Amino acid sequence: MPTILLLNGPNLNLLGTREPEVYGADSLADIEMELRTLAEARGFELRSFQSNVEGELVDALHDARTTAAGVVFNPGAYTHTSIALRDAISAIELPVVETHLSNVHAREEFRHTSMLSAVCLGVIGGFGRNSYRLALDALITHLGSPD
Ligand code: DQA
Repeated sequence: MPTILLLNGPNLNLLGTREPEVYGADSLADIEMELRTLAEARGFELRSFQSNVEGELVDALHDARTTAAGVVFNPGAYTHTSIALRDAISAIELPVVETHLSNVHAREEFRHTSMLSAVCLGVIGGFGRNSYRLALDALITHLGSPD
């Protein structure tokens, strides 16, 4: 089965307890479980990794180059700052869907800029937990069903 990497950046390990009015009440483990089931139903294995460390996210993207067909990526605050993650996404030549729980454009101005969107397949945000589901659906539709 081809693999999809679900990659989450800083502070997303605290989902469920972190600002639930912004990010919702579901934990990352809840979201991972739902996505794994949805991916498997469409013929993909889901691998999940979260880190608060920028370099570890770069390493995870490099690793995905040879082990995954595509990436659903919530880069957290690194979205707005990280040229290293942008370069890693460009380097691996895999479809990456930038994913956000919140609508970053309806929030503080510093969240309106993404260093990453231009090198991603697309961007989904603002739908809470459903953003991940929509991102996975978009990625699998882009990749086509494995046979
Ligand atoms: C986020 C939005 C970012 O601006 C923020 O720093 C996060 C989460 C989201 O999922 O809405 O950590 O990526």
